Amino acid sequence: MILVTGGAGFIGSNFVLDWLDRDGDPVVNLDALTYAGNLRNLAALDGDPRHRFVRGDIGDRALVATLLAEHRPRAVLNFAAESHVDRSISGPEAFLRTNVMGTLALLESVRAYWATLPDPERAAFRFLQVSTDEVFGSLAPDAPAFTEQHRYEPNSPYAASKASADHLVRAWHHTYGLPVLTTNCSNNYGPYHFPEKLIPLMIVNALAGKPLPVYGDGRQVRDWLYVGDHCSAIRAVLARGRPGQTYNVGGWNEQANIDIVRQICALLDELKPDPAGPYARLITHVADRPGHDRRYAIDARRIEAELGWRPAETFASGLRRTVQWYLEHADWVREVQSGAYREWIARQYGPAAAA
Ligand code: NAD
Ligand code: TYD
Repeated sequence: MILVTGGAGFIGSNFVLDWLDRDGDPVVNLDALTYAGNLRNLAALDGDPRHRFVRGDIGDRALVATLLAEHRPRAVLNFAAESHVDRSISGPEAFLRTNVMGTLALLESVRAYWATLPDPERAAFRFLQVSTDEVFGSLAPDAPAFTEQHRYEPNSPYAASKASADHLVRAWHHTYGLPVLTTNCSNNYGPYHFPEKLIPLMIVNALAGKPLPVYGDGRQVRDWLYVGDHCSAIRAVLARGRPGQTYNVGGWNEQANIDIVRQICALLDELKPDPAGPYARLITHVADRPGHDRRYAIDARRIEAELGWRPAETFASGLRRTVQWYLEHADWVREVQSGAYREWIARQYGPAAAA
């Protein structure tokens, strides 16, 4: 049995689906179902006794203690977080509440449970923190990619909250001996990605004939990884990672935002041509994000050397699969574009964008 938190979100739901598909041990899935959590992502597991979903907050110590005592997991994987940089800029509190105080509460609940385990189980137990490359800050165009030794220099409230959580996880290992693992992954993309993030937003806006809002000059660089590859990296780290170690995870795939948007437009031109003309006509440069990090890039040599992990998907194949998935799941998109989602789009991009 493993306990997964945030398993109804984008990466967490992909992880749970892949894990059970590969006959991993049963999963207790604890998720607060914020705007980003969606049980539809897990519909394939309806009625599957290997998956138990529990709606709740990682900060609810009584609930987490009960779940731990009842299910006695061999590992806790913490995906639960507020994850959208733009939302962290307009409202940082929720990020501190979940990402920092929530992680603190979870660590404390897990520590109390771990202390009760008999010896072999205690030694085998793992707490895996799913973190991000954004904790390292922004790279100059020609600077080497982030290694695990790179200083923490978080620039957004989101990045600062994730950096704080990573420090807590590190300290719980150093001080209490909790067997922790941390992954710092680059930008993910793929199925079930909430359409507030770059790639799904561009796909769903293009299909709706809406502007494709590119922040600033669009030359900001991210290192994109297909979500299935992130899931395989997490499985490798959980199985073979060294307690106390951190692992950078990335796709060796740096892309400027504007180039991504153009590739999405070209794929849609091929797969679902718009009689009104090429989708690139919808590209619109809008005001830049405050404090926008210019470049992220991951040096993923440690996880390859120690654990033999490399991404399986190329960006061309992964992006095509992703665009196809969105074309085939218009009902999923419609459902997540709820009232709360429209309010966010109106605040961020103006009322016309939400219409
Ligand atoms: P997401 O926003 O899609 O999902 C987050 C999930 O956590 C949602 O299901 C939400 O309901 C749940 N949640 C939020 N607050 C909670 C709380 N207090 N208690 C329990 N559940 C709560 O995020 P994601 O993109 O799937 O990211 C998952 C993790 O991976 C995050 O920790 C994020 O920082 C990290 N990460 C994301 C990326 C990326 O590109 N998306 C890259 C690297 C790391
Ligand atoms: P995002 O998907 O929000 O991920 P992150 O900020 O965590 O990297 O954004 C990816 C990049 O795309 C980032 O440089 C901001 C940019 N972006 C836009 O240009 N327009 C948009 O509407 C969004 C949501 C993001």
